This record gives sequence, C-alpha cells and structure tokens, in this order.
Amino acid sequence: MSDRFDEIRKFVAPEVLFGEDSRLLCGTYAERFGLRRVMVVTDPGVIEAGWVTPIVENLNEHGIETVGFSDISPNPRSAQVAAGALVYEAAACAGIVAIGGGSPIDCAKGIGIVASNGGAVLEYAGVDRVSAPMPPLICIPTTAGTGADVSQFAIILDEARRTKAGLISKSLIPDLALVDPVVLATMDAKLTAATGIDALVHAVEAYVSNASWELTDGCALSAMREIPRALPACCANLDDRESRRAMALASLNAGLAFSNASLGAVHALAHALGGRLDSSHGECNALLLGPVMRKNLAVMPVERVQRMADALGVEGGDLIRRLPEWFDGFRADLGVDTKGWKLALSEAEFESIARAASVDACMATNPWKPEVDDLVEMLHDALD
Ligand SMILES: [Fe+2]
Repeated sequence: MSDRFDEIRKFVAPEVLFGEDSRLLCGTYAERFGLRRVMVVTDPGVIEAGWVTPIVENLNEHGIETVGFSDISPNPRSAQVAAGALVYEAAACAGIVAIGGGSPIDCAKGIGIVASNGGAVLEYAGVDRVSAPMPPLICIPTTAGTGADVSQFAIILDEARRTKAGLISKSLIPDLALVDPVVLATMDAKLTAATGIDALVHAVEAYVSNASWELTDGCALSAMREIPRALPACCANLDDRESRRAMALASLNAGLAFSNASLGAVHALAHALGGRLDSSHGECNALLLGPVMRKNLAVMPVERVQRMADALGVEGGDLIRRLPEWFDGFRADLGVDTKGWKLALSEAEFESIARAASVDACMATNPWKPEVDDLVEMLHDALD
C-alpha cells in the first residue's frame, strides 16, 4: 500500500459477554446463531476440571447436538488440526464451541479454517491468507492470558520445522467470547503465572508496536495497570474472586490490544524458542520480556515510556534500564525461571531460533528491526 494509507488504523473485536456464569449462556447464543450440531473442542485437562460437561448439557438443553474433540496437546500440532477437521466434516457440524486455554482455542480456529477453506492449516500461515470465513465459533477461555478468544491470531506448531506458525486474519476472530472469571478457579499457580505474564506481554508489545494507536493504547494501559497487583494476588489465592475478575478483564483488554496493534520481538522469539523446545508460551514470553525491552524501549518516545511506567507503577530515574529490570523481577517473583533451557541448545540452535524469529509475522510491528545477531543477544540475555 502507498504511504497515503500509513496513518490508518483499525480495530476489530468479537461480541464479548463478560462476567460470572456467562459461560452458561452458551446454549442460548448457539441457538440464536441457528446451530443444530456443534463440535466442542477442548483438552483433557479442561474436561478433568469439570468445565465441559455442564456446557455440553447446556447446549443439549437448547436442542443442539455436540460432537467432542479433545485430542489436543499444549502447543497444538498441525496434525491435530487435521484430525479435528476430519471429525468435524464426518459429523457434519455447523459450528464450534472451544473451551480451554490458547491451545484448544487455536486448534478450534485451525479446524474452522480448514473446514471452510480445505487443504492443510499451515497453508494459511502468515498475514491475511485466509479467504473464506470460519464456521461460527464460540470461545470460553479457561485461562486469563491467551487472548485467543478475542484475537485474529492462531498459533499452530509446525512439527516438521519445529517452530510455531502464526496465522493472522480477520477470518480468525471468534463470533462470541464468553469471558467468565469463574472458570479460572481450577488453574494451578504455575499456569496462572505463565498465562498471566502472557497477558502482560500482550499489553506491553501492543503498546510499543508500531501499529499502536489510541484505542489499542487504552486497552494495553488498562491491562498494565491491573496485572502487577492482580496476578500475584491470583497466584497466591485462586479463590480471590476480585483478583480473578481483574485478571479476566486484563486478559481481555490485552487481547483486544494485541489483536489490533499486533506484537513484536518477544512473541517472535517465543514462537521460535517454544517451537524448538516444545515449551510453554507464557514462560518463553516471561523470560524474553525484559531482554527484548532492554532494546525496544531505547527507540520509544520518552513520554510513551513514562506512560507505560506510570501504568505499571514503576518508578525510577532511568526507565529504559529500570523497566526491563522490573519485568525480570516480576516474573522471577512469580516463580518463572530459565530451568536450564540453555543447556538443551547449542550455539547453532541459538542462531537458527533467531533466524526463525526474524521472519515471524509478529516481527513486522516491533518498534525497530533487529538483525539476527541482535536476536541471538536477546536470547542469551534471557537464558544465560
Ligand atoms: Fe501470547
């Protein structure tokens, strides 16, 4: 596009119902969408936590048949999407209800894309490569952080390349997000911390993104104001309803921010590192946030860095040094550390992770363009 459109910004979002027990409106809304048979996409942990059966019963009460699919691992694989799409087609489903964290929701998006467009999910990796819209998708997120329930992103593991492929398209925005803080109660402290830091990274990366604007800034700064207090409180006591609600809202705000302003080098590196080690997205992000911001904040206008610090409640003279230190301390206090990941990686692998990150779709909106050497340096800073 020519320069005349450079200043244009956009904002897209699904319908959102926010509040305790909103999940129990699933049947009402699925019926309103005219659905008669839906695929319920989830994972074994969510089933075990007891959240799936009541939703299925709720759908059945509204005359909607369900077909289950739960063969999904953390970091959903392209083969799992293909298997789900076969089940979807064989059962002649007309819509999808995704219940879970980012993995089931991203897998559900992949299944929807393949159901509408055919082929294999990885053919649609990249920006705006999906033409036909998905079947209706209702999301009930059971973690507070992924933002997949409102975003136009899906991340699928490319098993052959051992990296995570990003699909970014308006066609991936769910039709409805039922954001219900009640379902956060069954996460353990480790998952709460990892997913909550993912939300913080979404807010920070969306704010420093070169596609940010007033609407996304409002969402990002709101999330940054809540997370420093609410996330440690949630990790300490998941029965704390007020903090759980605050984290659900912060995740929603951060999800809307990054869906519209996109992300940056933290996510680009986390996709490549997480794909290589098959490790937790939130933990990869947590380790990389400080090291990437050590570089990113130096190119940001001083007043924007100050606004970010004010939202986070971070004080100190040299914020370009102080904020990355604060990010490192925040994740360490929540118990996220490197766990010796560096030992699993050779120096050549550091470079190949950096190369994969340099072509990740998220890198396009990082506030400056790092070279591969810069990315290797950030990885060392994160893992050494
Ligand atoms: Fe993320």
